[in-house]
Amino acid sequence: MLTSVLVVAAWVLQRWTQPLTYFAAAAERLGTDIHSPPLSENGPLEVRTAAKAFNRMQDRVRRLVEDRIALAAAIAHDLGTPITRLRLRAEEIGDAEIREPILQDLQQMRRMVSATLGFARLDFTAEPTEMLDVMSLVQRVADDLSDAGAEVAVNGPKRLPVRSKPVAVQRALTNIVENAVKYGNRARINVTERAGGVEITVDDEGPGIPEALQAEIFEPFRRLPHSTGEATEGTGLGLTVARSLIRGLGGDITVANRAAGGLRVTISLPSFGETHLREWAAQIS
Ligand SMILES: Nc1ncnc2c1ncn2[C@@H]1O[C@H](COP(=O)(O)OP(=O)(O)OP(=O)(O)O)[C@@H](O)[C@H]1O
Ligand SMILES: [Mg+2]
Repeated sequence: MLTSVLVVAAWVLQRWTQPLTYFAAAAERLGTDIHSPPLSENGPLEVRTAAKAFNRMQDRVRRLVEDRIALAAAIAHDLGTPITRLRLRAEEIGDAEIREPILQDLQQMRRMVSATLGFARLDFTAEPTEMLDVMSLVQRVADDLSDAGAEVAVNGPKRLPVRSKPVAVQRALTNIVENAVKYGNRARINVTERAGGVEITVDDEGPGIPEALQAEIFEPFRRLPHSTGEATEGTGLGLTVARSLIRGLGGDITVANRAAGGLRVTISLPSFGETHLREWAAQIS
């Protein structure tokens, strides 16, 4: 008797909580992919109504994000013409002491504009999630930079499969390893398996970053005084892009100074579990 009551109770409970699990998974997925397909608007009335509301919300979020991106791209694009006009006029200035700093500033503005355009065009949400071997991806990033003359070492297991977006991960990791080489002479990449994903650390031997400034370096165009010299050209968007990509994949990037000197950047990357959402969707529709 007790067993049958328990079985019936478990069945009822499962039927009640099933849609909730489904919505939780859908909300989780929306957080990392605003282009995810709409929920099916089938099932009992309450579920149908909630699914419709969820789909409308997803539509509004997507339009809002797309409008902002289009605005940033339009501003960056339209700034190109006046900057070129200013450069042509500045080149006419006879006094080199006045002309050169103006030309340098204009050059920096041109770089910022083209980096902003690149950032606005980034749309890795459209990249499909797939099974990838983190180790070969890390090795590829290291090899590309080594070919360009940098010192990059890699440590980790032979293979480490995760579900993620290879182009986005590679782009983020490249930005971070480039920094380690640029500001810290050489990079040592360590890859470790973590519950539900991987952790990638990138160590360098540079000056590190004062703790009070560690949050700021992720802001767009923020560059610290030690890196504004000729030798370390940049726009200050590398880390902004890297963190927004990794967060888009459900992970995060943190920085800390190493006891031995230099900076350690840690990327935590979860392995995407999209399959359970599809299973729930199949069950409910
Ligand atoms: N490994 C590092 N060691 C010391 N300082 C660093 C390191 N990585 C980043 N920084 C500081 O953080 C700032 C922001 O880095 P970020 O990668 O966003 O921009 P950037 O390297 O200046 O330009 P780019 O857009 O070309 O990457 C850098 O200008 C530098 O001051
Ligand atoms: Mg950089």
